[in-house]
Amino acid sequence: MIRTILTYPNPELKKKSAAVTIITDATRDLVRDMAETMYDAPGVGLAAPQIGVHQRVIVIDVSGRDEQPDLIVAINPAIIHAEGETYEEEGCLSVPQYAANVRRHAQVVVKGLDPEGNEQTWRAEGLLAIAFQHEIDHLDGILFIDHLSPLKRDLFKRKLRKSAETAAGTP
Ligand code: NI
Repeated sequence: MIRTILTYPNPELKKKSAAVTIITDATRDLVRDMAETMYDAPGVGLAAPQIGVHQRVIVIDVSGRDEQPDLIVAINPAIIHAEGETYEEEGCLSVPQYAANVRRHAQVVVKGLDPEGNEQTWRAEGLLAIAFQHEIDHLDGILFIDHLSPLKRDLFKRKLRKSAETAAGTP
């Protein structure tokens, strides 16, 4: 089932998500809905709090439109090693129509559980490394715009206000 993606400034996006203690069919249903919602959007990643579920679950697929799907599901993901630096443009399904460069680690090693409860280790670089960091941030109530300089964040907020005013029909 495709779920509604919450958008900034919805306060649900600022809440910290709780670790999944037992993986059940409900967890696997959640994962399926998240994947469906991500592919439908379309996006390269989605975290459970973006659909209002405050559990530490993320889905990622950076394979791109023309490639075979390559879905990564990480439950209770944790970055156990990070190195290098990158500064690439990011967007977010919860922050529509906005993109900005964000400083991230270039390589990460992530540990977590798969939907069967098996421990997995993912070694990531490039877009996948960025996606892991971006989605894990969501689990801690952090959006990519929180990484911007105060000046850039201010510009973003002004732009948001302007588009809200336009939508409301005020000059
Ligand atoms: Ni996001």
